[in-house]
Amino acid sequence: MSRFPATRLRRWRRTPALRAMTREATVAASDFVYPLFVTAGATVRREVPSMPGVHQLSADGELEREIAEVADLGIGAVILFGLPATKDGQATQAYAAGAPVQRAIGLIKKAAPELVVITDVCLCEYTDHGHCGIIREGVVDNDSTLDLLGKVAVSHVAAGADVVAPSGMMDGMVGAIRAALDAAGHADTAILSYAVKYASAFYGPFRDAAQSPPAFGDRKSHQMDPANVREALRECELDVGEGADALMVKPALPYLDVVRAVRERFPLPLAAYNVSGEYAMVKAAAAKGWLDERACVLELLTGIRRAGADLILTYHAKDAARWLREA
Ligand code: PBG
Repeated sequence: MSRFPATRLRRWRRTPALRAMTREATVAASDFVYPLFVTAGATVRREVPSMPGVHQLSADGELEREIAEVADLGIGAVILFGLPATKDGQATQAYAAGAPVQRAIGLIKKAAPELVVITDVCLCEYTDHGHCGIIREGVVDNDSTLDLLGKVAVSHVAAGADVVAPSGMMDGMVGAIRAALDAAGHADTAILSYAVKYASAFYGPFRDAAQSPPAFGDRKSHQMDPANVREALRECELDVGEGADALMVKPALPYLDVVRAVRERFPLPLAAYNVSGEYAMVKAAAAKGWLDERACVLELLTGIRRAGADLILTYHAKDAARWLREA
C-alpha cells in the first residue's frame, strides 16, 4: 500500500495539462440534448419568466434561427415539447399532422438534417385537464392512454422524428409504442424511455413553459416516489423488456445515485434530465451574483457525466457549448 510521503496525489494536479490528462469524466456539446418549446401561432418568441434564456417559439423563422444556433454549437440533439392552439379531453392535438411539434420536425429536418430530433411523447400538454392520460372516474387511466401514446409516437415519426421519448410513466408505454411504431413501418426508430421519472417539485418552471400544470390533483399516482431506488431498477428492467433502446433518469441532480445505480446495472445508453427547477435555481442565484454561473454549470454537468449519464438533457446546453468551445 502506498502512503504519504511517497504517494502525493497533488503531483497530477500541478498544471492544467497534467490535470487534463488524468481527468476521468468529460463533457462535450455532443452529449447535450436541448429542450425546445414549440408553440402554435406565428413569429412568437416568448421568454419563460421562471427560465431566463428559454423561449417558447413558433414553428417558423423563430425556430429556424434557434436551430441554426444549436446546430452551429455542435449540440447533439433537441427534444421537442408542444404548446397546441387548443386542448381537449382526448389530447387530439398531440397527434394532429399540422400541430406545432409535427410542423417543427419537418422544419428542423430541412434546416439541419444532421441534428437528432427527439420528441417528448406525453399527453399533459394536450389535455384540457393537464394530466398525462385519459381521465376515468377521476384518475389517469393507464390502459386507455396507451393506444393514444402509440398514435402520438407514430405521428412524430411520420413527420420525421429520429427518436421518441415517452415521459408519461404509464405502465406498458414502451411496449405499446414499440408495437405501434412497428405496425406503422418504423421498426428502425429508437425509443428513449423516461423510465425513471420521479414526482418532483423541480418540474415547476417547466409547467409554466409548457403550460401543462394539472388542473386538479398531482402526478404521484404514476410518477415515482423520490425515496425509491430499487423501484427505479424495476422500472428499467420492465422498459428494457418492452424494447426500450435507451433509459432516462429524471430529475438529475437530486438523483445522481440513481443514475449511478442504473448505469451499473444496464448497458443501454443512459440519459439524465437536468430539469427546469435545477436550471431556475442556478439562473436565479447567478442573477443575484451569488454563484458563478459558468463554473457552476460546467461543474454540475461534469457531475452528471461522472455519475454515469451518456446524454444530458439540459436548458444550459447552448451556454455550456459556448463555454466549452472557448475553453
Ligand atoms: C411531461 C414532462 C414534464 C417534464 C418533461 N416532460 C413535466 C411533468 O412531468 O410534469 C419536465 C421537464 C422539466 O422540468 O424540465 N410531458
